[in-house]
Amino acid sequence: MKNIITFAGSNSKTSINKALAIYASSLVEGVKTTVLDLNDFELPLYGIDFENENGIPENVHKFLDMLKQTDGIVLSLAEHNGAYSTAFKNLFDWISRVEGKLFFNKPMLLMATSPGGRGGLSVLEIAKGRFPFHDGNIIETFSLPFFGENFKEGKIVNAELDTQLKTAVTQFQKSL
Ligand SMILES: Cc1cc2nc3c(=O)[nH]c(=O)nc-3n(C[C@H](O)[C@H](O)[C@H](O)COP(=O)(O)O)c2cc1C
Repeated sequence: MKNIITFAGSNSKTSINKALAIYASSLVEGVKTTVLDLNDFELPLYGIDFENENGIPENVHKFLDMLKQTDGIVLSLAEHNGAYSTAFKNLFDWISRVEGKLFFNKPMLLMATSPGGRGGLSVLEIAKGRFPFHDGNIIETFSLPFFGENFKEGKIVNAELDTQLKTAVTQFQKSL
């Protein structure tokens, strides 16, 4: 059986991106899903001085191992001021210090959601442009606008958007 990891680019305990990522991964059939939470991988703020003095924290290696061992990645990015959340960017920067690579060509379903009408499209575009430089293998992307209206009780309630996600999940599943 294939293994996938699913997580949000957020450290919010009530992350809407984590909710979306969990829903999307529940649609992937015949896989074992491990849900990760950035709060379980606490890290100091990246800085070259900290790295020179202390080396790379253990949690960086732990997260990197999860990325190396998985067969696929379901990731939904929170958008903060049109870009990655600090928590995600910090993890990204730390991991990039080990081998440069982050995603090891593992098939990825890349998503974003926000309470607003653009649904995190700005951060999605940033990630689409950047992840390939770190061996990102983005199979499909999906953005969910107006999270509060379109997502209820663990599911997308807008039929058109739900179909769009399911089509993306099917492609992701085929790539595993
Ligand atoms: C500092 C900050 C900046 C934000 N900037 C944006 C933004 O640029 N675009 C947007 O759609 N939402 C923005 N939001 C709202 C977030 O999309 C919202 O807080 C969302 O819940 C974040 O995802 P999460 O719950 O998975 O952490 C911002 C929120 C914060 C706290």
